[in-house]
Amino acid sequence: MRVLIVGCGYVGVSLGTELVRLGHEVFGLRRSAAAETELKHAGIQPLLADITQPSTLAKLPPDFDWVVNCTASGNGGAADYRKIYLEGNRNLIAWLADCPPGKFIYTSSTSVYGQNDGSVVTEKSPAEPEADTAKVLLETEKLLLAASPDFPAVILRVAGIYGPARGHWFKQFLKNEARIEGDGARILNMIHRDDLIGVIIAVLKNGRPGKIYNAADDAPVSQLNFLKWLAAKLKRPMPASVSADAEVLRRRGVTNKRVSNAKLKAELKYEFLFPDFRAGYAAEIARLKTAGALDA
Ligand SMILES: NC(=O)c1ccc[n+]([C@@H]2O[C@H](COP(=O)([O-])OP(=O)(O)OC[C@H]3O[C@@H](n4cnc5c(N)ncnc54)[C@H](OP(=O)(O)O)[C@@H]3O)[C@@H](O)[C@H]2O)c1
Repeated sequence: MRVLIVGCGYVGVSLGTELVRLGHEVFGLRRSAAAETELKHAGIQPLLADITQPSTLAKLPPDFDWVVNCTASGNGGAADYRKIYLEGNRNLIAWLADCPPGKFIYTSSTSVYGQNDGSVVTEKSPAEPEADTAKVLLETEKLLLAASPDFPAVILRVAGIYGPARGHWFKQFLKNEARIEGDGARILNMIHRDDLIGVIIAVLKNGRPGKIYNAADDAPVSQLNFLKWLAAKLKRPMPASVSADAEVLRRRGVTNKRVSNAKLKAELKYEFLFPDFRAGYAAEIARLKTAGALDA
């Protein structure tokens, strides 16, 4: 297949590397020419464009069998989200209109579920986020789904990505900057990068256009239990607690839910390489130790 990875960064380069290994012809789209060496090294053919600038897309041939949009806003606010996710996808739909791919994947986020009661959420659960950024992601999903079936979009609602050199709470813990929020009962949902790649490939092959799939591992975990596991594994002290005002957390858009991956597993028969954070972080900790980057 001829595959285009739009926003070919952390996830995209690994995805591209795997697709090349599987024999596909892979193109990676970025804004920065500096990325060309990294992409070429992975066997990915670099394309330079900015999805917020339709004129830059117009210069590229739009004939791809599969397109995966992994563009990220880089921690911006709602205005940045609107440009990158909403307008970016709108521009991609327009650019690909004359020659739609066989499948288009958009990596949305589990942040679109605003639930705050620790409940299990499936793709059928209400998606009514409080955070302005998550509202934009939801609007983007609706834009893509409204373009289906002419435009064969599949939405992946991705949990917190971790893996080599990634993982927010893990990095905070290593820097002694992690803090237990209140009683630490808030649930974290995660997925290892390599599983996200496996899920994306499974969706490219068998995912149904116009559908939404949650991409999270088997084991949502409370913040407290995650930090306890890390402290024991690395033989380091537990972080301090800070008070967590529920109203402040709500305004920050912090949610508390258990994201179900049952649909992904039932429909796509996906088998996780790292079914829970223990397996994934054990691998990452072993990698860091081998590299001499951990003293524990
Ligand atoms: N991190 C998480 O925990 C998480 C959770 C849920 C969902 N997601 C989603 O997962 C996807 C993959 O994330 P990631 O960690 O791989 O992100 P990443 O490493 O930041 O890569 C995104 C790439 O997008 C490119 N990009 C940014 N703006 C662009 C534009 N206007 N036009 C073209 N390319 C652009 C950037 O390269 P240049 O700067 O060179 O253009 C960057 O390399 C993203 O869609 C993200 O929203 C992430």
